[in-house]
Amino acid sequence: MKGIILAGGHGTRLHPITLGGSKQLLPIYDKPMVYYPLSVLMLAGVREVLIISAPADLPQFRRLLGDGRRLGMRFSYAEQPEPRGLAEAFLIGAEHIGSDPVALALGDNVFHGPGFSELLRSRLPHTEGCLLFGYPVPDPQRYGIGEVDDAGRLLSIEEKPDRPKSNRAITGLYFYDNEVVEIARGLRPSERGELEITDVNREYLARGRASLVDLGRGFAWLDTGTHDSLLEAAQYIRTIEHRQGVRIACVEEVALRMGYIDAEQCRRLGAALGASGYGRYVMEVAEAVRAAGPAAPPGLTGAGTGTGRRGIVPAPG
Ligand code: G1P
Repeated sequence: MKGIILAGGHGTRLHPITLGGSKQLLPIYDKPMVYYPLSVLMLAGVREVLIISAPADLPQFRRLLGDGRRLGMRFSYAEQPEPRGLAEAFLIGAEHIGSDPVALALGDNVFHGPGFSELLRSRLPHTEGCLLFGYPVPDPQRYGIGEVDDAGRLLSIEEKPDRPKSNRAITGLYFYDNEVVEIARGLRPSERGELEITDVNREYLARGRASLVDLGRGFAWLDTGTHDSLLEAAQYIRTIEHRQGVRIACVEEVALRMGYIDAEQCRRLGAALGASGYGRYVMEVAEAVRAAGPAAPPGLTGAGTGTGRRGIVPAPG
């Protein structure tokens, strides 16, 4: 499966912070925002990720992430000259996708919750068509909204409805089979002039090939779109990290625990981060995994995009 991170847009609701650079490179506490969706893709087993951004911002993404080899990943880059909609990612990324299925993660979406990586790994092999994730929100007019029947089957999806049929937002993480490229090619721009991801999802729904998983209570899908929500997201991450002694969405740790890199490479990456607490954490994780030895292979805790440090948890399966 290929991955795409879409990190375009002008971030106008965050002006003037985003006048000087991409929203998706802003910090959420101790790491750049884009690490959060990147770690989700990595936990889903995706190794090849295309990062799409505005031409002016792309050099900074390249500088931050490079070619991905240090993480056992492969990153490539493409421009979205104007924010013409999320579904344009499948046109820009058609060559990258090739004949594979694809996961699209929005560069400003932060997910954290117990068992998230296990959920992804258990659902994905059985997914036909597309897999979407629903999350209850107090302001459904702002999102793509899904309506389900009593059996949990998806009935309809509407983009930013005036009269929402539910409060279930469709979050910015989407898994599709290869038909998504053909579907995206057939889209027409919406009234706001964008190729809407909601229209892609509606087409899957019409074909009877859309499924939705509700991310329930206790799960965090964090908004980063306003000054307040950006700060609140950082405070949430800081609170969990301090309390549990873990780092959420630490891409070096995820690469190690997924087996994309070994403990020595992880230690090198931590050392290269110099004096930061984040760098020290990466080195500690490497050391803990090395000390546990080959009999206890690196594993993931149930903590979603945060992986455990205190006591290495055995690998699943
Ligand atoms: C986009 C999608 C919307 C989805 C949201 C998730 O909204 O159009 O369906 O619920 O991302 O973050 P936008 O960011 O374009 O307002």
